[in-house]
Amino acid sequence: MMQSTPLYRTAKGEAYVGNSLELLAELPDNCIDLVMTSPPFALRRQKSYGNVEETEYVQWIKPFGQEVFRVLKESGSFVLDLGGAYRSGVPSRSLYNFRVLLAFCDEIGFQLAEDFYWFNPAKLPSPIEWVNKRKLRAKDSVNTVWWFSKTNFPKADVRKVLTPYSDRMKKLIQDPESFYTPKKRPSGHDISDAFGKDNGGAIPSNLLSIPNTESNSSYLRICKELGIERHPARFPSELPAFFIKMLTDEDDVVLDIFGGSNTTGFTAEALRRKWITFEINHDYLSSSVFRFLDGQSSATMQRVLDELSKNDANYFINKPTCALNPSNKAKSKAESKAQGELFAFGATVL
Ligand SMILES: C[S@@+](CC[C@H](N)C(=O)[O-])C[C@H]1O[C@@H](n2cnc3c(N)ncnc32)[C@H](O)[C@@H]1O
Repeated sequence: MMQSTPLYRTAKGEAYVGNSLELLAELPDNCIDLVMTSPPFALRRQKSYGNVEETEYVQWIKPFGQEVFRVLKESGSFVLDLGGAYRSGVPSRSLYNFRVLLAFCDEIGFQLAEDFYWFNPAKLPSPIEWVNKRKLRAKDSVNTVWWFSKTNFPKADVRKVLTPYSDRMKKLIQDPESFYTPKKRPSGHDISDAFGKDNGGAIPSNLLSIPNTESNSSYLRICKELGIERHPARFPSELPAFFIKMLTDEDDVVLDIFGGSNTTGFTAEALRRKWITFEINHDYLSSSVFRFLDGQSSATMQRVLDELSKNDANYFINKPTCALNPSNKAKSKAESKAQGELFAFGATVL
């Protein structure tokens, strides 16, 4: 599909270094099933990965949205993770993430298929001035995640992301008669006999509780061993995994236009989807290759890194080994419980 040469690739995916606005222009219309991405946020303090001022944010991101609209299939979805922010110098929230939502729907033509909220229970309190020092605000631990679509009926199936039943629901399924009498509720819900049927899990809510506590991945291990700076703003693989599972089938194409450490490509690979990743920072994308070489020694990784020193290295990973394991041991019991209640899906380990 692309004219540029990737930095690295697998049989299913390709990772390109460059400005995604230029790289998007190489893609034909209507070719992508899901764009899953997390852009640089409108944070007050500039970070090393290129945040732009809050006020310019909508203007900055709109051309990316227009290109995404063009390359998405009619059945496609665009999932945009945006962290909240405070306005400069005052304890009042920026509206930038809501302005993006309105601009994308009103000016580009996207539908808001559903608004999701990613709750990260492991998030540290911030901003320090308003939360820790002056105790004026609660800690901000929720990102808005806008699920956009081109039409009112994008491809979607929540049965692929069912969550485990609560203990109460499990008991109800075992013995429905002692729990409820079939009848129509004032709310309009028809609590019929079918209510007690085991569907394999509960329908997930739009609040995704996922601690961002990756600590035992090959990516982090090798970054540490080789003294390489890890990407400072990664999302956990559970976040793209949820949307990839719900919104695509195997061999569909998933694109991340702000790829960072290529969490999305890695997750798509593990879930047997095709993937394309764009990332402007060569170093970030180079070290993301560690994700696909689980179990390799740091000497091997260094050799691969050397081969990736050119932008168009076209390094082929013959047998990628991606371990996608949401229930990793590093998570505390409390975090696992929070996740189990609100969000869980079958772990895929390849
Ligand atoms: C929030 S990070 C994404 C992190 C990623 N989700 C992960 O888990 O590693 C945003 C990324 O967008 C990249 N970026 C910023 N402007 C870009 C552009 N115009 N084209 C491509 N990448 C860009 C930054 O270098 C940064 O790595």
